[in-house]
Amino acid sequence: MIRVFITSKIPEEGINLLRKHGYAIEFGSLKKAKGVDALLCLLTDTIDGKVMDQIGPQLKVISNMAVGLDNIDVHEAIKRGIAFTNTPGVLTETVAEHTVALLLAVSRRIVEADAFVRAKKYKGWKVNLFLGQELRGKTVGIVGYGRIGSRVASILEKGFGMKILYHDERRNEIAKKNNATYVSFKDLLKLSDVVTLHVPLLPATRHLVGQKEFRAMKRTAYFINTSRGQVVNEKALVQALKERVIAGAGIDVFEHEPNIDAGLLKAQNAVLTPHIASASKEARTAMAELAAQNIIDALK
Ligand code: GLV
Repeated sequence: MIRVFITSKIPEEGINLLRKHGYAIEFGSLKKAKGVDALLCLLTDTIDGKVMDQIGPQLKVISNMAVGLDNIDVHEAIKRGIAFTNTPGVLTETVAEHTVALLLAVSRRIVEADAFVRAKKYKGWKVNLFLGQELRGKTVGIVGYGRIGSRVASILEKGFGMKILYHDERRNEIAKKNNATYVSFKDLLKLSDVVTLHVPLLPATRHLVGQKEFRAMKRTAYFINTSRGQVVNEKALVQALKERVIAGAGIDVFEHEPNIDAGLLKAQNAVLTPHIASASKEARTAMAELAAQNIIDALK
């Protein structure tokens, strides 16, 4: 009987799909996974060569319930002939919506204002109370113009009348649909009122944004990150927020999750969420189903 190990409770729909195929399903922490044919894991599970060896040579597929694959040592998997899969596509809308939510929250100071009201500090309408910035006509720079980046561009262009710049390692066909203009990374930083990251974590993107890049942005710019924390030097982000090198940030991912730099926790001009950009019922259900289907397909 084919054995599938799942490292966490995932939406039932995914589990049912595996059951329908007659697989034996085991749940537990990663270190208990042994002798199984397939592993369904989360982005919080580090799957390196040691873990692959612990599971054993019969392991045929590692199915990550995430679009990112940075928690898997793919070179070690290739060496051992183990297939590895992710869940792209099904979380695009949800992550794009969360990106826009962070942008609106920071540009209209929603979280600060909410805290102000709850603290009973609201004593009447004032001309200058919580002034933010309008988005219409402003420029957003999308770093990484794949599924998510281009969907964010589409929402911001069609919904908010923003101008779209993008930088990617390739020039993208979808860019034409959103009137997006390709620019160098350097120009993107210099020209954008909003900079938002949608790249995978790779050796080439680690610390892509640090002190130099924040200094290249406009002082009025907002910075949004829903990709991976390690793409940003978090200390440099804290400094940029504190010294008002940029206007504010909306951050869903952190360099050393779940730990967060104390300075970031104190930054009033940042809105922080706990890596929930893909956390809608729709996306998480579809991710579980796709992660299960990936196992079925790989085993076939
Ligand atoms: C979430 O961060 C994912 O990679 O799916």
